[in-house]
Amino acid sequence: MYVPVFWYLFKERHRKMSFLSGRIDSFFKKEYFIMKLSITCIPGDGIGPEIVAQAKNVLNAVAEKYGHDLCFTDILMGGASIDACGEPLTEEAIATAKAADAVLMGSIGGNTSTSPWYQLPPDKRPEAGLLRLRKSLNLFANLRPALLYQELRAACPLKEEISAAGFDIMIMRELTGGLYFGERRTVVENGVRRAVDTLTYDENEIRRIAVKGFEIARKRKRKVTSVDKANVLDSSRLWRKVVEEVAVDYPDVELSHMLVDNCAMQLVKDPAQFDVILTENMFGDILSDEASMITGSIGMLPSASLNDTRFGLYEPSHGSAPDIAGRDIANPIATVLSAAMMLRYSFDLDQEADAVEAAVQAVLKEGYRTADIMSEGCTLVGCSRMGSLLAERI
Ligand code: IPM
Ligand code: MG
Repeated sequence: MYVPVFWYLFKERHRKMSFLSGRIDSFFKKEYFIMKLSITCIPGDGIGPEIVAQAKNVLNAVAEKYGHDLCFTDILMGGASIDACGEPLTEEAIATAKAADAVLMGSIGGNTSTSPWYQLPPDKRPEAGLLRLRKSLNLFANLRPALLYQELRAACPLKEEISAAGFDIMIMRELTGGLYFGERRTVVENGVRRAVDTLTYDENEIRRIAVKGFEIARKRKRKVTSVDKANVLDSSRLWRKVVEEVAVDYPDVELSHMLVDNCAMQLVKDPAQFDVILTENMFGDILSDEASMITGSIGMLPSASLNDTRFGLYEPSHGSAPDIAGRDIANPIATVLSAAMMLRYSFDLDQEADAVEAAVQAVLKEGYRTADIMSEGCTLVGCSRMGSLLAERI
């Protein structure tokens, strides 16, 4: 990316001059400089390669329309990397990802009951590659927006009187701590097998995700619901304390706490009450699947995983769906919307991100649907056709 570094530094320091800032920004970007964007792609497994191909199509249309220079480099991860290199992620692949401006990922993993990848030791399986990449790139903040598109209300499994209120939730999931990265072991004691996983958080890990949560809330409806299990877990009691300490710096944002079991219930009872849901890794994994399902299809939901810089990894919230892989029937919208998040968060290209999101709205409005969101009277299209329709509307 070679928009002058000095300008970005200046802009960060003079955020208040937003009017001038916007003008100068477009002068640099649109008139005199071509943005050179280096993107590492991870097609991955299952439907991953199909959906990433369509996200690339849409990004190429963006590049053409707005005059950016895109450079894609593919790396292997997950099962594809196990098959080719014997491990789910190589050092070389990590280095390639680190060298890019951002990473765009499809999905990884296979059928856990039938794929030979799941006969391997746990640290050699596909998911271990993803966890290692998240940790190596320090991607502690996972943003998973769950938005109910009015066009997809028919696909929403909630009762009409609940879905009528609509919802627009941002799940902020801590991504590099907790149960996922705590000490784990399986032992045999007196002939009895015992498995141990450890849920651990220190206050710094909690503070940095809480700060991101409050910052994001400021750009939305200024409401944070921090979700924990403080009636049982020490890690949750610390979580609650630290979130309250951070909240002192954000008097303009309303903070409430909710127990995770209640949150799971409230998401289907009254999702409109939520703005930002701030939570730890495991709770966020589960709640984000639930939140995505009430939007009508998990095939619609993007995500961004960010560290302290502009760098990020962007991936759909859904998995690799091996059962429908290679049949050109997957929904590429979550990956395309992840690419829009990449334009917004890593490249500061709001106009371009808006264009991608508008293309999704337009295609849905025109009645095009992939199988997962199909309803009566709509036009059924496959993955590649959906990608072309989106690219044409940029
Ligand atoms: C997700 C996925 C991953 C997770 C798996 C594939 C390790 O479910 O991104 O939500 O649990 O984080
Ligand atoms: Mg998950």
